[in-house]
Amino acid sequence: MPSIIQITDLKKQYNPPDGPWAVKDVDLEIEAGEVFSLLGPNGAGKTTTISMLSGLLTPSGGTAIIDGHDIAREPLAAKQIIGVVPQEIALYPRLSARQNLRFFGQLYGLGGAELNRAIDEVLEFIDLKDRANEQVEKYSGGMKRRVNIGVGLLHRPKIVFMDEPTVGIDPQSRRRILDAVVQLKNEYKMTVIYTTHYMEEAQELSDRVGIIDHGEIIAKGSTGELIQLVGEKDTLRLRVGEQEIAPAVLEAFKQIEGVTDVTRADGDITVTATRGRRALPELIMAANHAGVDILSVAVHEPDLEAVFLHLTGRALRE
Ligand SMILES: Nc1ncnc2c1ncn2[C@@H]1O[C@H](COP(=O)(O)OP(=O)(O)OP(=O)(O)O)[C@@H](O)[C@H]1O
Ligand SMILES: [Mg+2]
Repeated sequence: MPSIIQITDLKKQYNPPDGPWAVKDVDLEIEAGEVFSLLGPNGAGKTTTISMLSGLLTPSGGTAIIDGHDIAREPLAAKQIIGVVPQEIALYPRLSARQNLRFFGQLYGLGGAELNRAIDEVLEFIDLKDRANEQVEKYSGGMKRRVNIGVGLLHRPKIVFMDEPTVGIDPQSRRRILDAVVQLKNEYKMTVIYTTHYMEEAQELSDRVGIIDHGEIIAKGSTGELIQLVGEKDTLRLRVGEQEIAPAVLEAFKQIEGVTDVTRADGDITVTATRGRRALPELIMAANHAGVDILSVAVHEPDLEAVFLHLTGRALRE
């Protein structure tokens, strides 16, 4: 597939010359028609990257070409092609969903029958036709999120950027939004760049994932390819809570056959091992021997969480 976005050495320093580098030399190719997720923890640089690509923030260096248009030299042409769903809900609370869509549609230069048609189509898509004339401030968080998404789709963009669109909403609304992303790809043939810190969402939705941490893309590929990075290993999570664990204990765990990595984070001791279930009895014996109280044990097949832990030594979860 041809790439629709080419990003080369994109970077951003806030408050130069001494401010933080929020994005460092990002190189990415996004393919037409794919869902690409940027997966990373708080402060990783996801929003900064999206803001640069959507023309809201001037890069400190590097280039991005969106469907043939350089964002620095042809910002208007690039903006026509993209839709943006910002992380923070940007709606007028006193206006209805329909009035919000009308207002933002006009900003995009839509009007007349074309705008009316676009509004109806979007209301249908976000499933808010019934309540389109109520003030947005009376909506639930999930409904507001859906209007926020609708605004980004009004002008039928080829590419849509969605910045953490499921944070802080109920599971049902979340499900709807995830289904909408799939629909945008499959039915509307859009390219979707989706940011999240939820590993499960990235894994479920994406053709490819870029893992971002401290402003750098530390790995990219399909979920399968990324899991290959950590090898065919299992992750054993020994829940130990906040009790003190001596470094010697972790060291002893590392000596057990099959164990390749031991990390202490977020109330867990996380052990990476080949054929993890076989290592389990010995791990538990070693823990008992050291007086470590194990509250529970979980065995996980490799997932993106394991990839992140492997690459950074930290858990992705908050
Ligand atoms: N306007 C700003 N001025 C200075 N620093 C900023 C500004 N905006 C973001 N940063 C810093 O840049 C880094 C990246 O922030 P960014 O908002 O891009 O991360 P993020 O991955 O979107 O995080 P989150 O998951 O919390 O939304 C952080 O260290 C943040 O504190
Ligand atoms: Mg953000």
